[in-house]
Amino acid sequence: MSNTALITGASSGIGAEFARYHAQKGGDLVIVARRHAPLEALKAELEAAHGVRVTVIAKDVGTPAQATAVYDAVKAQGIQVDILVNNAGFGGHGGFLDRDLAKDQAMIDLNISALVTLSHLVGTEMKTRKSGKMLQVSSTASFLPGPYQAVYYATKAFVTSFSQAIDQELRKDGITSTALCPGLVHTEFVASADLAGTGLAKQKGATAASVVKCGYDAMMKGALIAINEPQLSFMMNWMIPFMPRRMVLKMIEKMQTK
Ligand SMILES: NC(=O)c1ccc[n+]([C@@H]2O[C@H](COP(=O)([O-])OP(=O)(O)OC[C@H]3O[C@@H](n4cnc5c(N)ncnc54)[C@H](OP(=O)(O)O)[C@@H]3O)[C@@H](O)[C@H]2O)c1
Repeated sequence: MSNTALITGASSGIGAEFARYHAQKGGDLVIVARRHAPLEALKAELEAAHGVRVTVIAKDVGTPAQATAVYDAVKAQGIQVDILVNNAGFGGHGGFLDRDLAKDQAMIDLNISALVTLSHLVGTEMKTRKSGKMLQVSSTASFLPGPYQAVYYATKAFVTSFSQAIDQELRKDGITSTALCPGLVHTEFVASADLAGTGLAKQKGATAASVVKCGYDAMMKGALIAINEPQLSFMMNWMIPFMPRRMVLKMIEKMQTK
């Protein structure tokens, strides 16, 4: 039986660990990111260790047109996608008006528009088969407004909302969508988002491998939302919603200050 996972952002961090975890379970892979060399290295590692088939697509997935081109490349190879992991994403530190608007627009394109595009394209073929699983990599940021990462937090609020809504719509068609909402994870994300020196980046954080196990296992069970640490889950569900808004904003502002 076909068990192929399409994973975006698989050249490092959480995406590469998703590929390792799925391959350990004997599943084939389509791994996508812009950097070719790390994808080829991951392909060699996983094919040798687990005897699975790994297809590399070294392409930018950062706009709806580019996401569609990636999907077309998968279809051109006759590959059926059984699991979609929408993981590619990036953040960016700084005051909203101090940041380069183009970078924030590119963030919206990748974190939101490309994710919606792939969910639509892959979801449509999953619906015809009445079977499929999606994992949307969101963040605990999705539960909060984020001063000094205003656009990033808002993109993740979109992802968590969108994922739950399509899960409700598509469950009757045999498709589930799980939002994975990690706290800080030690990956290239901290450097690329320019978070070094913030209170947030000084937190203990989690390993990508532990976050992946939590998210992948939750997806297989068809969970709506997965938060990797119990204390974070308690905070997001049982503390933040009951705190005064301004207090939450000041708390996050402090965490984002260098
Ligand atoms: N690390 C954290 O603290 C944390 C916490 C919560 C949520 N998350 C989320 O987890 C996801 C993965 O992040 P990570 O922590 O693993 O960071 P990472 O190590 O920086 O990985 C990001 C991945 O996305 C890929 N990517 C970026 N832009 C792309 C584009 N335009 N087209 C195709 N691929 C692109 C990167 O590969 P290339 O550069 O090769 O394209 C890389 O493989 C993101 O959605 C992030 O928002 C991270």
